[in-house]
Amino acid sequence: MGKSAYIHTFGCQMNVHDSEIMTGILEEQGYSRTDSPSNADLVIFNTCSIRQKAEQKFYSELGRMKSLKKIRPWMKIAVAGCIAQQEGKNILKRAPHVDFIVGTQNIHTLKNISSATFERVAVHGNPDIATTELPIKRNDGIRAWITIMYGCDNFCSYCVVPYTRGREQSRPSENIYSEVSELAGKGFKEITLLGQNVNSYLSDTDFPGLLRKLDRLGGMARIRFVTSHPKDLSDDLIRAMSELPTVCNHIHLPLQSGSSTVLKRMNRGYSFSDYMKKITCMRKEIPGIAITTDIIAGFPGETDEDHQLTVSALKQIEFDGIFAFKYSPRPFTQAAEMDGHVQDSLKSDRLNEILTLQDGITFQKNKSLVGTVQEILIEGESETNSEKLTGRTRSNKIVTIPKACSRKGAIIDVEITKSRRHSLEGTPVNS
Ligand code: 5AD
Ligand code: SF4
Repeated sequence: MGKSAYIHTFGCQMNVHDSEIMTGILEEQGYSRTDSPSNADLVIFNTCSIRQKAEQKFYSELGRMKSLKKIRPWMKIAVAGCIAQQEGKNILKRAPHVDFIVGTQNIHTLKNISSATFERVAVHGNPDIATTELPIKRNDGIRAWITIMYGCDNFCSYCVVPYTRGREQSRPSENIYSEVSELAGKGFKEITLLGQNVNSYLSDTDFPGLLRKLDRLGGMARIRFVTSHPKDLSDDLIRAMSELPTVCNHIHLPLQSGSSTVLKRMNRGYSFSDYMKKITCMRKEIPGIAITTDIIAGFPGETDEDHQLTVSALKQIEFDGIFAFKYSPRPFTQAAEMDGHVQDSLKSDRLNEILTLQDGITFQKNKSLVGTVQEILIEGESETNSEKLTGRTRSNKIVTIPKACSRKGAIIDVEITKSRRHSLEGTPVNS
């Protein structure tokens, strides 16, 4: 019987995609993926260190592997992702049952996992990461995630990513074009271009140029991208989004705070009024655009007034959805050393106020779509109701429809019949 590998993925879409690459590499070596560590020959933790909570979750999962390894002594445990990069050999001290550490820029070292020469610690930088093409085993046959750039040069003062993912490197555009053409040939309908700051993509073309070429290439019904940085969002990108039929009308544009003083201490490179100008322009130029964001509650030195500026920003902008987090001090970062850390209970109060306010706004936004007709791409069976299918509008809203009406991969028009807090219900319209 072949060997089996279990991969536990923590954190963001970037990690989910890295796990698809790990699976691709392991399959080439005869491993098949299993969904339980208890029958795996190899367990990989693909970790996230963006906030302390994600880190704690990983360490408690890792601790659980100790007893499993006692009864399965041949089982190998690898730690990959951001914590691997951040902690390196320290993980081996803390958890001697770990066999391998795989840094964020060294996923390719998994190619040697079965051989005796495999490096135990592989967290050195890899200057060739953007040109190294690796096999990918994608989870979905309809939607694909494609890395267009690695790393981040922004050094927002709260963020560990520049330390765990290294400096920005853009993938050559021709590699991206051929990956997309291949996916189109396999019947994929939607791609999401991935990077910490896709707006600063630069090879022989910039990001709007890349979108134009991908649109011209054809074969993909929908193109999405994450994540954008407000300081690098150009007029040309807004133009490309409004002109290109395949580029979806949704942008995830992290605001982080409504207070320009806090934004300055976060080293974000824009003020609240700069941000507002971009929002106004996008709403004017791109019909029906949905805008989502990230917010951090309780950044060091954040006063009640600063927090209230975030609250009024949310009321003014009316985002379609937000991800909000309590500030979490991270190693190496400037903010961790700043004065004025906010008490945890106050961070929680501020976070709750933000989430409750946004819940109402999201609900109202969803309600306003009832009666409209939206194009949706069917993603598959609903996770909560096997009688339903779910799909997404071009603006990235989830819509459920009765199962008999369609099938995975179809693109259909539906009339929105009902709104829920975080999703919509619809029925197909006959065209
Ligand atoms: N604490 C809380 N939230 C953070 N983020 C990044 N670093 C931190 C931190 N130290 C959030 C930001 C970012 C999202 C991916 O995670 O809002 O946009
Ligand atoms: Fe972190 Fe800022 Fe880079 Fe985003 S842009 S990954 S928040 S440093």
